[in-house]
Amino acid sequence: MVPQPDMLDLCLLSGCHSVLEATWESIKLSDTTQVSDLISQNVNIFLRSAIKGVGFFIFMFKMSWKLTLVTVMGFPFIALVSKVYGEYYKKLTKEVQTTLAEANKVAEETISAMRTVRSFANEGGEADSYYAKLFVMFQLNKKQALAYACYMKPKHPAEGADAPDICTGLVEFKDITFAYPTRSETDILKGVSFTLRPGEVTALVGPSGSGKSSCVSLLENFYVPQQGHVLLDGKPVNTFQHSYLHSKVALVGQEPVLFARTVKENIAYGLSDVSMEAVVQAATKANAHDFISTLPKGYDTSVGEKGTQLSGGQKQRVAIARALIRNPRVLVLDEATSALDAESEHIVQQALNNIMQEHTVM
Ligand SMILES: Nc1ncnc2c1ncn2[C@@H]1O[C@H](COP(=O)(O)OP(=O)(O)O)[C@@H](O)[C@H]1O
Ligand SMILES: [Mg+2]
Repeated sequence: MVPQPDMLDLCLLSGCHSVLEATWESIKLSDTTQVSDLISQNVNIFLRSAIKGVGFFIFMFKMSWKLTLVTVMGFPFIALVSKVYGEYYKKLTKEVQTTLAEANKVAEETISAMRTVRSFANEGGEADSYYAKLFVMFQLNKKQALAYACYMKPKHPAEGADAPDICTGLVEFKDITFAYPTRSETDILKGVSFTLRPGEVTALVGPSGSGKSSCVSLLENFYVPQQGHVLLDGKPVNTFQHSYLHSKVALVGQEPVLFARTVKENIAYGLSDVSMEAVVQAATKANAHDFISTLPKGYDTSVGEKGTQLSGGQKQRVAIARALIRNPRVLVLDEATSALDAESEHIVQQALNNIMQEHTVM
C-alpha cells in the first residue's frame, strides 16, 4: 500500500501522529506479506510448470522425436531473448523497489518527526518531496509496463482513428516501393502505381513470386511500404481504424482458413450480434446457401478442424460469405479459385460474378 500525498498532507496538518505511526507499522508489514505470498505462489507455479514441461516432452518425443528435435533447436534463442529481457526487467523492478523504499522513508521520517516538521511549518515541503519520489516511481512503473507489453505483443503497423461513414472504395497504389522487413535488401515492389475503381474488376497478372500477394498485404495494412502510399478514398490505409479498414476491405485467399466451429459461426466470424438473416443472405450471395442447407445440421454443422469436412469449393464459398457479410466496399480475391477443380471453380466464379458489380474488386 502506498499512502497518497494528499493523505499525508492531511495527516500532517491535523497532527494525528500516534494514529499515523500505527498505520505506518501496518504498511511496513505489507512488504513482508507480499514476499511470503510471492514465494508460496511461485513454488506452486514452478512445480506445476516443471511437471507439465517434462510431461509434454515425453509426449512429444513419443509422437515424433525428429520434430521434437527441430522444436528444441529454437530453445537457445528463446532462452537468450528471455535472459536479456529478464535482466532488464529485473533491473527495473529493483529500481521500483528502491524508489518505493525512498518514498516510504521520507514519509516515515516526516511522520515520526511530526513536531519538528510542524514547528518549521514545512508540511508542504515534505509533502512535495514525497510526491517527487512517488512521481519517479510512477515513471518507472510506466517503463516497466511498456517493457512487459513490448515483450508480450508483436509489433503491427500503427493504425489510425479514421472511420468515415461513406466509403466509395477507390483504391490507389502510388509509387510503392516495398521490401519485407525480414529481407530488407530485396525490393519486392519498385515504383508500382495503379488504381482500382468502384464497380470495376482489376486483375493483377504476373508469374508466381512477382509480388501480387504482397500488394494485397499492403492494402490490408499488414506492412508499411518503404516509399509511396496505398490510399483508400484518397487517404493512406494506415490512417483508418483497424476494424474499420478490415470491414471495408475483405480478402478471400487461395486457401481460406476456416475455424473448427459451425458454418454460421464461421460466416459471422469476428462480428457480434449477427442475425441469422444476414448470415443466410451472405451465404446466398456467395452461392453457398444451397449446399449448406443440405448439410446434416444446416448452418449449425461443424466444418471440422480447418474446415476439413467441406470440399475446397465449399470452403471457398463459406469464405466468400464471411467476406460479404461485412458488406465490404473492396473485395480482394487472391487466386481465390486457383486451388479448385474446374466444376467448383465455375460455381465459385458464378458467386463472384453476382457480387462484382457492387464492389471494387481486385
Ligand atoms: N513474409 C515474407 N517475407 C519475406 N519475403 C516474402 C514474404 N512473402 C513473400 N515474400 C517474397 O516476396 C516475393 C513476392 O511474393 P508474393 O507477393 O507472394 O508473390 P505472388 O503472390 O505474385 O506469387 C517472393 O519472392 C516471395 O519470396
Ligand atoms: Mg500470391
